[in-house]
Amino acid sequence: MYNEIDLNTIDLNQAPPTEEPARQYYYIAKCREWVRDYEQKNGRRPRSCVVNMGCQMNARDSEKLEGVLEQAGYEKTTREEDADFIIYNTCTVRENANKRVYGRLGYLHSLKKKNPGLEIALCGCMMQEKQVVDKLKKSYRFVNLVFGTHNIYQFAELLSRTQGSDRMVVDTWEDTDKIVENLPVDRKYPFKSGVNIMFGCNNFCSYCIVPYVRGREKSRRPEEILDEIRRLVADGVLEVMLLGQNVNSYGKNLDEPVTFAQLLRRVEQIDGLKRIRFMTSHPKDLSDELISAMAESKKVCRHIHLPLQSGSSRILQAMNRRYTKEQYLALTEKIRRAIPDISITTDIIVGFPGETEEDFEETMDVVRRVRYDSAFTFIYSKRTGTPAAAMEDQVPEDVVKRRFDRLLALVQEISREVSSRYTGQVKEVLVEEVNGQDAALVTGRMDNNLLVHFPGTATDIGRIISVHLDICKGFYYMGTKV
Ligand code: 5AD
Ligand code: SF4
Repeated sequence: MYNEIDLNTIDLNQAPPTEEPARQYYYIAKCREWVRDYEQKNGRRPRSCVVNMGCQMNARDSEKLEGVLEQAGYEKTTREEDADFIIYNTCTVRENANKRVYGRLGYLHSLKKKNPGLEIALCGCMMQEKQVVDKLKKSYRFVNLVFGTHNIYQFAELLSRTQGSDRMVVDTWEDTDKIVENLPVDRKYPFKSGVNIMFGCNNFCSYCIVPYVRGREKSRRPEEILDEIRRLVADGVLEVMLLGQNVNSYGKNLDEPVTFAQLLRRVEQIDGLKRIRFMTSHPKDLSDELISAMAESKKVCRHIHLPLQSGSSRILQAMNRRYTKEQYLALTEKIRRAIPDISITTDIIVGFPGETEEDFEETMDVVRRVRYDSAFTFIYSKRTGTPAAAMEDQVPEDVVKRRFDRLLALVQEISREVSSRYTGQVKEVLVEEVNGQDAALVTGRMDNNLLVHFPGTATDIGRIISVHLDICKGFYYMGTKV
């Protein structure tokens, strides 16, 4: 979809247009010519493999890369060994993510020795770090293309510069105000889709690298978002996930400011759309207006992801989170009062510099009180350039590890208890796939995001089905159609 421009009408003898997205469609047509030549020479089309290494935003960006490659005529593969073009869409939120990329690059180099025509591209958040790009330029010369998050919309143009060339093309920008709409997208699921509503982050939590690699907050205009969702629904989508680093500050910087709650109410009115999710909310910006919009909505899922990070007010201050433990607890209580059956999930970091045993116990206390449906727990990772990296009192590794294990055990114990509360009820499930382990079952999600497996067939995929939840197996249910 979004093939706004007929590629066959583009005259490649003309100079490329300067305006977007026309310029990128010109380059897609150009890439397609190259692919045709390739096919004539090799008797098959080149195969591309997009590897997504990050969050939902990253996954959505990967669908845009897939869209360009598909339009250009590449054949899709998930096996790196079979590919002629491999692109890693990287993450850098924790140091481990970077280490993984360097590790994989060694393997890609060995593939390239076997297939010299193989082209390797790297993009995403990690490429926004200067020291990474310097290291790639110095020690990883076999990489063909490097670009960042701000100019991802130029992928077709960059791909065209790379095709058939063995030069290393590097193009990363520090920031941009530009949002280019209506580029091709190849969705992973026909029935659900992420939709970016904003890019970047202005919060500067002291441990976090995202504001440095994703730049300042920019919101898409509501009309563009609503148009995109209408087109998705016309194309079979039942569920959208509105994406932003901090959706609660959506729309503040638009020429005509709009709140996130107002946007949600407008999305709600789109006929044919069944479910609305969003990610991520910052507790400091979560308004009463949003709680009302959720409570009154028939489509917004009964689920909120509300990152806690730490339960200690002292650590929260050092993290620059701008709320206290008490404020966070009061907020979750207010949400539960307005929407009693809501699932609350969270992110927690263990081992932030200066975290004492008492601070950690405060975190455990919040977990016990809020009783999260699930929680992503992370070991603090020192990110060069962030204020926390320069803080003294980094907590010793073994202490962090022990705390992490205790937190994980508590989170899982509570999650098991909380998740089972629907046993015996009938819930709507959006079916996603045939079960990988047992082909007699299909797998789908309830609106609170829990997985349900039940007997069904491939024809159920993409449908919302009422399912009796027979038994809870910890983090998922086994059920039967009613
Ligand atoms: N170390 C560990 N976890 C981090 N996160 C962000 N930065 C770091 C870091 N330096 C976690 C936060 C955030 C999630 C996406 O990643 O919990 O909510
Ligand atoms: Fe990072 Fe904080 Fe922005 Fe989330 S809100 S992306 S944790 S700086």
